[in-house]
Amino acid sequence: MVSLQLNGRTVVVTGAAQGQGAAEARLLAEAGARVIATDLATAMPAGPAGGTPSSGGELLYRPLDVSNASAWAALAEWIRSQGWQVDGLVNNAGITQRSRLLEASAGDLQKVYDVNVAGSLLGIQALAALMGSGASIVNVGSVAGLTAHYPVAYTASKWALRGLSQVAAMELGPRGIRVNTIHPGFIETPMTAGAKPGFRQATVAETPLGRTGSVEEVAGVVLFLLSPLSSFVTGAEIPVDGGQSAHGGAKSISDALR
Ligand SMILES: NC(=O)c1ccc[n+]([C@@H]2O[C@H](COP(=O)([O-])OP(=O)(O)OC[C@H]3O[C@@H](n4cnc5c(N)ncnc54)[C@H](O)[C@@H]3O)[C@@H](O)[C@H]2O)c1
Repeated sequence: MVSLQLNGRTVVVTGAAQGQGAAEARLLAEAGARVIATDLATAMPAGPAGGTPSSGGELLYRPLDVSNASAWAALAEWIRSQGWQVDGLVNNAGITQRSRLLEASAGDLQKVYDVNVAGSLLGIQALAALMGSGASIVNVGSVAGLTAHYPVAYTASKWALRGLSQVAAMELGPRGIRVNTIHPGFIETPMTAGAKPGFRQATVAETPLGRTGSVEEVAGVVLFLLSPLSSFVTGAEIPVDGGQSAHGGAKSISDALR
């Protein structure tokens, strides 16, 4: 039977200590998966990802800096030593950097690229050997990767991640491994908690659904992409943004003519 259940499947989620990653880890475990939640801290911080899932799955924690190839190799070795294969990978860990075009340094670009782009590449490289046909990878992009956006290093990194995702979908497809990208809009997380009120208001004004999104609304799309319900979907890019990226700037025109 085709369903959203992930029983018997092992999934790695990066950046899972808070925000979207925590919600994804929790939902995937509730769907029955064995979730290996990873983040920078030595131990899983007490927070939304903590606690035993109410049904089925299992939530484990391993420290992992996604920009560190040796750390990925150690994680892969640990999974192998448990006798598990990897059925899912969510490359969620990401950092932002808000310097603007004429202020940003090459170092700013590099720092963000190391986590947001190289981190995803290293994860795919480390875990692909443990994946069989039916495995699914979800890369977490951003609406910043679909349009221009003011933080230049972050925007460039998310555009680069799209290229990486499409190459991975092409290269891993023949092995039955799917690779898709989601593009969240403004989601309420610690990353956006410090956003200036003007940024929030302007974003909501550009969002047809007229509000920001929740981490649960992102996690649901990740669950779909990891489940057999999306078994013929690869190389796809799904905005999870309340329509923000869909109108190409025409919303303000539409609003002005109401
Ligand atoms: N919140 C939004 O509005 C929004 C919008 C678009 C895209 N995104 C993307 O969604 C993803 C999650 O964002 P969030 O809002 O939950 O962010 P967040 O800052 O709340 O959480 C990010 C997590 O990633 C971890 N992390 C950072 N660097 C890491 C590294 N080198 N190795 C391992 N873990 C690391 C952090 O410790 C943190 O737990 C990111 O890729 C982000 O770019 C977020």
